[in-house]
Amino acid sequence: MSGGTPSGRGAHVVVIGNEKGGCGKTTVAMHLAVGLLRMGFRVACLDLDHRQQSLGRYVANRQAWIERTRVPLPMPQLRVLSPSKAEFRRQAEAEEQAAFDAALAEAVEAADFVVVDCPGSDVPLARHAHTHADTLITPINDSLLDLDLLGRLDPVTWDLKAAGVYASLVWELRQQRRRAHRSGIDWVVTRSRLSALADRNKLKMAEVLPKMQKVLGFRQAEGFGERVIYRYLFLWGLTVLDLSQSGIDMEMTKSHQAARAEVTALLANLWLPRVSERLGRI
Ligand SMILES: Nc1ncnc2c1ncn2[C@@H]1O[C@H](COP(=O)(O)OP(=O)(O)O)[C@@H](O)[C@H]1O
Ligand SMILES: [Mg+2]
Repeated sequence: MSGGTPSGRGAHVVVIGNEKGGCGKTTVAMHLAVGLLRMGFRVACLDLDHRQQSLGRYVANRQAWIERTRVPLPMPQLRVLSPSKAEFRRQAEAEEQAAFDAALAEAVEAADFVVVDCPGSDVPLARHAHTHADTLITPINDSLLDLDLLGRLDPVTWDLKAAGVYASLVWELRQQRRRAHRSGIDWVVTRSRLSALADRNKLKMAEVLPKMQKVLGFRQAEGFGERVIYRYLFLWGLTVLDLSQSGIDMEMTKSHQAARAEVTALLANLWLPRVSERLGRI
């Protein structure tokens, strides 16, 4: 990709990570990939969640939909990383890292953006992937339990008492990345699935996150709202960005339009190279 990237390599690497499942990582990964494709970028996806393969299945569903309907949709490249069969842990980790490095090198050659979807647990391969992230996106739900992974709060004063397990891990991996690649990670935490109700969780999250971000080294961006449409489209491999394309027979409701707007807003707020000038193409 011309214009340079923070890492100085050919493509910009976006890792979607959080040690927790069900917070919207794969949904964000797929919408990000399709948004970038619709802007005319080449996109390669790496699915590290070998067990669930949600991103892999999402992309495969999209391919099947294209073949069934003959409606052309932009497609990302996809690699699902398999676990090593090595008996000893160290050897298995080394093999998995080497396989990741090879897949990433290929993806970086072939694409402008590489989107890496991590599993919802702390596994060595996900750690390794984080050290290659130019941008790290961490979706969290509006819940104090999710927030605890970022920072431990005092129950009386709501002050930040200590970094949470995931924020500590990101801090450590940032140091590793600086040593190995001499570059940083732009860490973006997105709040997803905000319920329509202005409950206490939501109000507290809005109050506490801006304070946390300075200390823990992330910046906050608005994630996706909780909408049925995000769940609904998986089986067809579609995203809310595809709905207005001719050949897709689905009514564009107000909620769908709002979903499109929030995906576009997230793409804008990620500050990815050359994206702001192409947002109009989505
Ligand atoms: N913004 C959203 N609104 C409604 N449902 C969502 C939203 N984001 C994700 N989901 C649903 O929540 C579940 C978990 O999301 P997923 O993206 O698979 O999370 P993760 O990859 O972190 O495990 C899925 O059923 C998905 O369809
Ligand atoms: Mg997932």
